Amino acid sequence: MKIAPSILSANFAELGKDVQRVAAGGADYLHIDIMDGHFVPNLSFGLPIIKALRPVTDLPFDCHLMVTNPADYVQLLAASQVQIIGVHAETTAHLCRLLQQIKAAGCQAEVVINPATSLTVIEEVLPLVDSVLLMTVNPGFGGQKFLPFVLKKVQRLARIKQQNNYHFEIEVDGGIDPATIKLCAAAGATIAVAGSFIFQNDPAKQLALLKAAVGE
Ligand code: DX5
Ligand code: ZN
Repeated sequence: MKIAPSILSANFAELGKDVQRVAAGGADYLHIDIMDGHFVPNLSFGLPIIKALRPVTDLPFDCHLMVTNPADYVQLLAASQVQIIGVHAETTAHLCRLLQQIKAAGCQAEVVINPATSLTVIEEVLPLVDSVLLMTVNPGFGGQKFLPFVLKKVQRLARIKQQNNYHFEIEVDGGIDPATIKLCAAAGATIAVAGSFIFQNDPAKQLALLKAAVGE
């Protein structure tokens, strides 16, 4: 199980230091939540922050776009040396084209769905994606409670992946702590995003607790 700390819950007054702390603690990715106040009822940060953080770490940047017009940001994010671009299926009528644009820009394509969105919405594009992010909370805020019904969706996706010999990562995001990461790993998730659990205390220590929970 790989871990992607979400900087949404970092100390913004010490953002660079917090990023270095999770990198030193063995994080596998840096999860960056971009919110526009339209697709989700919250604002976070955008390209200037990504550009400022890029020289701070070699960790791959996993950009989770919670915006109504994700296509507008693909080129800009690719030019900012972001490795993974995650787009919500709910935000576009042309999901296939958007994923193709991400790949053409040289990035890994990640498709994201809300807790209430069915896998059937993304089933046809699964051969195109590098990762599938299943939201385990409603997007927009850190510190929310894990929604256990999504575990069945994780299991179904893992089964589809195995049956078709797909290689995408199965990522979960929201409410991840030592108890819920264990449930997600057992269901077949391969990457866990964690924000408030990691940044509530010494990030390296918190990361170690998550890894220990899944036997790493
Ligand atoms: C929520 C974001 C998450 C958030 C997770 O919309 O997508 O990445 O930071 O935070 P926690 O781990 O606190 O649920
Ligand atoms: Zn996220």
